[in-house]
Amino acid sequence: MKLIAGNSNRHLAEAISAYLNTPLAKSSIRRFSDMEIFAEILENVRGEDVFVIQSTSYPTNDNLMELLVTIDALRRGSARRITAVIPYFGYARQDRKTGPRTPISAKLVANLITTAGANRVLTLELHAGQIQGFFDVPTDNLIIAPVYLPEFKRRFEGEDLVMVSPDVGGVVRARALAAKVNADLAIIDKRREKAGVSEVMNIIGDVKDRVCVLVDDIVDSGGTLCNAAQALMDQGAKEVHAYVVHGVLSGGAVARITASPMKSLVITDSIAATEAVRVAHNIEQLSVAPLLGEAIRRIAEDRSVSAILG
Ligand code: R5P
Repeated sequence: MKLIAGNSNRHLAEAISAYLNTPLAKSSIRRFSDMEIFAEILENVRGEDVFVIQSTSYPTNDNLMELLVTIDALRRGSARRITAVIPYFGYARQDRKTGPRTPISAKLVANLITTAGANRVLTLELHAGQIQGFFDVPTDNLIIAPVYLPEFKRRFEGEDLVMVSPDVGGVVRARALAAKVNADLAIIDKRREKAGVSEVMNIIGDVKDRVCVLVDDIVDSGGTLCNAAQALMDQGAKEVHAYVVHGVLSGGAVARITASPMKSLVITDSIAATEAVRVAHNIEQLSVAPLLGEAIRRIAEDRSVSAILG
């Protein structure tokens, strides 16, 4: 097995490498003066089972292109099997036509990755599970439950807990987690009037005097979570926490979250944390390196991946 790290999330790649006790293979990604990306694998990969670790997070297009040219270099270097390990799959929110003459960019990006030469994809909590079907190669979409459940049990033991989905699209995820920790479920009926601005309309479920845990796949501008947290507090919640897999956190998101009534926002390291995220008083990070590392090990050994998801 060979592990190759792109530049998007070196820290996570090193943590996966430590988990697997396998060093990162030597590779180099450079730029020409016009910013074209050039990848070079600096050791033999002929006949190897190679895992390329790269989140297509900000700067999304650069990181995506790095992934594509690295896969191409591996394919031309005769790697036996190439798995694109994409902890955060950018472009996932463009998974359907939202109006006439608009793209389905998630499908386009999936095509690019398979055309480049990926034989498999390993990813985490896709925005919509159906995106797995956009890849015409085997795709493992890990769920976050094995990371969250021990944390929920440790942190909220004995609390009157309600799992809250901040929108209707996240109900399946919230319901599954609620069932595992024996918590109730609440749903926020969110209407988004225009892109990037969210508005809370209604809370379905009883949250008064209870500890509310918002769960979602992505926090981007933070608008969804902050509005939801405020709405829950207005309805008498005892305290509000949020667990979100991918901390995109663009624009003024960190400032918005630190000023919100949210007691804590827990994200994972699927996206590398910025300095602002690291110093924010109510943002914490959990690592998905053991989860991804174990999945990589099992793929390499042709063992079940679903067995680790519970
Ligand atoms: C939407 O369907 C997603 O699950 C997230 O709720 C959304 O992407 C969060 O965006 P923002 O933080 O900008 O409100």
